[in-house]
Amino acid sequence: MKKQLLSLTLLLTVAVLLTRLLGSCNKSADLRLLTAVSLPTPEGFPAPLYNNGDNPLSKEGIELGRRLFYDKRLSIDLAHPCSSCHEQQASFGTFEHDRSHGVYDSHTLRNAPVLVNLAWSPYFHWDGQFEKLELEATAPITGQHEMGETFPNIIRKLEADPYYKKAFQTVFASASIEPMHIVKALSQFTATMISANSRYDKVKKGQGSFTGQEQAGYQLFLQHCNSCHREPLFTDHSFRNIGLPVDPLLTDLGRMRITFSQEDSLKFKVPTLRNCYTSSNYMHDGRFISIQQCINHYRFQIQQSATLDPLLRQGIGLSNEQTDQLMAFLKTLTDSSFITDRSLARPQ
Ligand code: HEC
Ligand code: HEC
Repeated sequence: MKKQLLSLTLLLTVAVLLTRLLGSCNKSADLRLLTAVSLPTPEGFPAPLYNNGDNPLSKEGIELGRRLFYDKRLSIDLAHPCSSCHEQQASFGTFEHDRSHGVYDSHTLRNAPVLVNLAWSPYFHWDGQFEKLELEATAPITGQHEMGETFPNIIRKLEADPYYKKAFQTVFASASIEPMHIVKALSQFTATMISANSRYDKVKKGQGSFTGQEQAGYQLFLQHCNSCHREPLFTDHSFRNIGLPVDPLLTDLGRMRITFSQEDSLKFKVPTLRNCYTSSNYMHDGRFISIQQCINHYRFQIQQSATLDPLLRQGIGLSNEQTDQLMAFLKTLTDSSFITDRSLARPQ
């Protein structure tokens, strides 16, 4: 009896110690004060890649990220928040611009991509420079042609604001604001930009049907486009050269800038086509202003080169009528609930 009692006490002591130890590993944030959020996986989507282990989502973290995303104080001239280039009405791309405007009348090298379903992306930027959202968010903040700021300056501005002081303390359980907290909060917010409620999605769920023209366009899409713009994300996240003539002023070599491998010359990340009708301009440098121009590129303008994708060697043969059908299908990828979602909009 005495022996049993002794082992029970021992067991309890070990249990208490273990709880303390595990608790202390979680110093970075007091998770009990936070409302945990898990990313929904829309029907038919694979599991998200977003790394919750490093930067677990919380309601408070996402809200903090939203405030930062729309806050001018993150840019040196107080005029270029993330949202100045990533506009919600354009699915978080830059509406009707080839390349975006950054601080002091500068221009970005490339067209701002839509921010859609980032939690499923293994790479960020047209050349895949970043493999984590947190690393990506650092680039525009300090980039000369984006926001041109430094972290110490931003932290000084944010610490003067009682809202931020308290919010960072709640989310990251730390007395001071650290650069990593800023990019983590921004990543939490951008990871929640999920678009999966277009007419296409409804048809897939059996909640609607395509018109004859859209259905014909869908068949053409599966035949000619799906190998790269693969459903349901409408990208396979690979890097490809689709035979666009090189802009002699920008001389952008794409993926090769990162890997230094000749084989990657002129390859760019396959962009999603979700919401493409809301997000002109198109291609890495925004050279096209309409979807029709993009399709005409595949029909008539592909330039042969050593790294041109083998799928495109002969171009893509489509009649004018088939082009119209394909465009009708691509319009069904517009998700108006995404571009009007209040939870992604500028905080009031
Ligand atoms: C001056 C315009 C500008 C500003 C401001 C800006 N971005 Fe961007 N963003 C771009 C451009 C251009 C790219 C494409 C860069 C490339 O591919 O080289 C991009 C790419 C991205 C991507 C990668 C998307 C993908 O699918 O690959 C993310 C995520 C992103 N930006 C988030 C942000 C966040 C968060 C902020 C604010 C901290 C921000 N951006 C501020 C122009 C901007
Ligand atoms: C071999 C792979 C491949 C095939 C096949 C392909 N695409 Fe693309 N697509 C890409 C890549 C890569 C880009 C980005 C190229 C760049 O900017 O340099 C792109 C860009 C686009 C864009 C511009 C999107 C944006 O946000 O800038 C549209 C629209 C588009 N493709 C539509 C289509 C359609 C429609 C088809 C079928 C007729 C098709 N693509 C076939 C790889 C492909």
